[in-house]
Amino acid sequence: KKAYGVDTIDFFHLSRAIATYERSLISGFSRWDAWYYKGEPTLSDEEVAGWRLFTGKAGCIRCHNGPDLTNYSFHNIGLYEVYADVGLFRRTRDSADIGKMKTPTLRNLVYTAPYMHDGSIKFMEQVIEHYNLGGKNHPSKSPLIRPLQLNKAEMRQLVALLKAMSDTVMPVVQ
Ligand code: HEC
Repeated sequence: KKAYGVDTIDFFHLSRAIATYERSLISGFSRWDAWYYKGEPTLSDEEVAGWRLFTGKAGCIRCHNGPDLTNYSFHNIGLYEVYADVGLFRRTRDSADIGKMKTPTLRNLVYTAPYMHDGSIKFMEQVIEHYNLGGKNHPSKSPLIRPLQLNKAEMRQLVALLKAMSDTVMPVVQ
């Protein structure tokens, strides 16, 4: 009430207060940020190897790109043969959109388990296993999701990189 100078609070104030709060949560101070944007030596050899895979052989960058590590686009990544949540299809009613979900950011994964739209994957290691196997067959599955032939060490490198993309500080910008 004090912030908005009003006697009663309604949904207009609530929605704007929450949006203003969310805009103050800036996440851009991970070790990956310092390495990638400032060239600081903040990543280990294992994490750097993970980045090479991310941008190369594993192809993650094709969808998880830009400062938010997402293309803000929709893809079916082969999680299911039959989707309980049909994703983008619910909006478009185009069968090519069944199981397409919006690419999420990869920032702060350390704090946001379990993963995927339905929280069906508990650990980052299992996410990497999913991508390495190439997912389940589905007519709408992205052609980018295919067996990656990563060995155990490479899978560990990718997990190490994902962890380095998490902020350890969450400064609230005033
Ligand atoms: C074809 C685009 C595409 C590619 C390529 C891709 N992803 Fe994704 N990723 C997605 C989408 C879409 C989701 C959300 C799926 C869902 O919620 O069902 C997702 C989800 C994730 C999640 C879960 C995040 C969360 O907060 O739940 C992680 C982690 C992830 N991807 C990492 C990777 C890694 C590592 C690679 C490379 C091996 C990769 N992705 C390649 C599109 C892609």
